[in-house]
Amino acid sequence: MKAPARAGALSAGVRAARLLAASIRDLGLRATLERLPLLLLSPLTMRRLKRRKLRESLRDGFDVAHGTDTAAVLVGRELGPSVTRGGHLVIHYETTSAAAIRMPLDGLAIDFSQYAFVDLGCGKGKPLMVAATYPFRRLIGVDISPACIRVARRNIARHGPEKIDPARVELLTLDAEDFQFPGDPLVIYLFNPFPGKVLDEVVANLERSLKEQPREAVIVYVNPHALAAITRSGLFERTPTIADRMPMAAAGTPPYELAAVFVTRPGAAGTSAPSELR
Ligand SMILES: C[S@@+](CC[C@H](N)C(=O)[O-])C[C@H]1O[C@@H](n2cnc3c(N)ncnc32)[C@H](O)[C@@H]1O
Repeated sequence: MKAPARAGALSAGVRAARLLAASIRDLGLRATLERLPLLLLSPLTMRRLKRRKLRESLRDGFDVAHGTDTAAVLVGRELGPSVTRGGHLVIHYETTSAAAIRMPLDGLAIDFSQYAFVDLGCGKGKPLMVAATYPFRRLIGVDISPACIRVARRNIARHGPEKIDPARVELLTLDAEDFQFPGDPLVIYLFNPFPGKVLDEVVANLERSLKEQPREAVIVYVNPHALAAITRSGLFERTPTIADRMPMAAAGTPPYELAAVFVTRPGAAGTSAPSELR
C-alpha cells in the first residue's frame, strides 16, 4: 500500500473505532450490535435510504415554496464530526414536515414576543424558518456541524417570498453541551438531536440557568427518544399537545414527527408555568 493510501485507511479505521466506542457508550453494546448492519451499509443501500428520506421530506413543498435546501439528509463525513469532544455520537441530519414543527407551537398559549426560540441541533434551519413566522423575540440555532450551519445561514438569507430579518437569527457552530442559555424565557426545540447522555448534560445546564435566573421555559421534543433526561428533572412537567388532546388533528402524522411538550413546573426553582398554560 502507498503511504497516502495507508494513512487514509488508518484515519478511516480510527474514525470507525471512535464511532463504535461512542455508540457503545451512548447506546450500549447490544443496541450497537443491532445497529451494525446499518453502520456497514453499502454505499448503494445508503444512497437508496437517503433518496427515500429526501422524497418524504420534499412532500410538504417547503423547499419549493421558499427556495431553500432542507430536505436532503447528511450523514458521516458530510456533517463533519461523527463523535463529539466528549466522545458522544453525532446523530445524522434529517428534518420533518413544516406541519410537525407548527403543531406543537400552535398549542402554546404564550406571548411569543417575550420568548427566544432555541433549536438545539438546528441542522439546515427548517424549524428556525418556521418559527420565524411566529413573533418570537429572537431565534437561535446551534449545531455541531459546520456544514449544517453554512446551509442554515444560506437558507435563511434566501427564504422567500417572506424575508426573514437576519438580525432576529443567531447561528452557532457549537456542541450543544457547551451552549449557554440566554436570559430570555425560552422555547427549546429538539428533533431527536442527541443521545440521552448529551441531553442529560443539556438539561443540567438548563436547570442551572433557570435556577440562577428564574424564568419560564418550554421544551418541544419531537421524536423523543431520550424522554427520561427531561422527565427526571424536577423543574419540568409534561403538558398535553393538540395531538394529545385531539388525536384526529394528528391523523396522518408519522409517529416520528409527534412531539412531547414540557413546561416549567409552577414554583420549581422560582419559575412559573407559562401563564396561560396553567
Ligand atoms: C435530526 S437533525 C435535526 C435538525 C433540525 N432540528 C430539524 O428539525 O430540521 C439532528 C441535528 O443535530 C446535530 N447534532 C448532533 N449532535 C449534536 C451536538 N452534540 N451538538 C449540537 N448539534 C448536534 C446534527 O448535526 C444534526 O444536524
